[in-house]
Amino acid sequence: MSAEIAVVGSANLDLVTEVARVPLVGETVLGGDLRRVPGGKGANQAVVAARLGRSVAMIGRVGDDEAGAVLLNALSRDGIDTSHLVVTQGVPSGVALISVQADGDNAIVVSPGANSRLGPADITNAGVALSSAAVTLLQLEVPIEAVLAAARLAGGKVILNPAPAPPDGLPLDLLAQVDVLVPNQTELAELCGVSGAVDPVRAVGLARDLPCDAVVVTLGAEGALVVDSDTVEHVPAPVVVPVDTTAAGDSFCGALADALVEGRNLVDAARWAVRVGAATTLRAGAQTSLPTAAEVKTLVG
Ligand code: RIB
Repeated sequence: MSAEIAVVGSANLDLVTEVARVPLVGETVLGGDLRRVPGGKGANQAVVAARLGRSVAMIGRVGDDEAGAVLLNALSRDGIDTSHLVVTQGVPSGVALISVQADGDNAIVVSPGANSRLGPADITNAGVALSSAAVTLLQLEVPIEAVLAAARLAGGKVILNPAPAPPDGLPLDLLAQVDVLVPNQTELAELCGVSGAVDPVRAVGLARDLPCDAVVVTLGAEGALVVDSDTVEHVPAPVVVPVDTTAAGDSFCGALADALVEGRNLVDAARWAVRVGAATTLRAGAQTSLPTAAEVKTLVG
């Protein structure tokens, strides 16, 4: 049976250390004990959508190493269809080096490994999963050619989380295929060639200039801005004291997809997504922090 949500993206093993603050250039800081947690923006989005009750297919690549087995097992444990997660011979799996500060903010360096080998042929092989999914979720930790091929084959709504933001902006033929773009404030600025993060007022103007139907700008603790041709709506987030913000943006995207599959409008979907994102910040790690629908209610009401 086809899955409701198809995710094309990365799977990384996250190597996580807690630090008082992330180091400056040229500085060394001492951190806590190393933790190994399944992550990757694509896999995280797939896992949260599955925990919220959706059927999900993951399209991507892992290496033929121990990390690859860990990542594949983690997705299977959440009931995700991994038949299009290709094990790539002789290549290491994606790894993310993550420092989490005392205030819950983080800094991440990704070594993409097998994720960088995902190509248009892999996407063609997953054509049925993509054409039959109600929502396809895309991010940018895999090659843009694969992302574009997936957007073209998608039969339902296409959500693109442009993370990490490409330095040269997004190809117009990709944006033309996107129904909902979900950048954070920094990614929106980078996509529009503006330096630094933009404030919400500026974000509305920049979002309106992008050639796609709707943009949902995530604002961290401030919630999200939903911008389309006739709507600008600020959706506030529940007030929480974050432990670790890793994967909160992924959680937002997976929850947005969940709500769109259910037929909710974009503003309602964003109301659900800010709650799921906030709940994610209350536990440590990427996939270890992603909540079920019942846990969202317990954690943020
Ligand atoms: O968005 C969080 C994710 O970014 C981490 O799990 C890490 O793997 C990187 O992809």
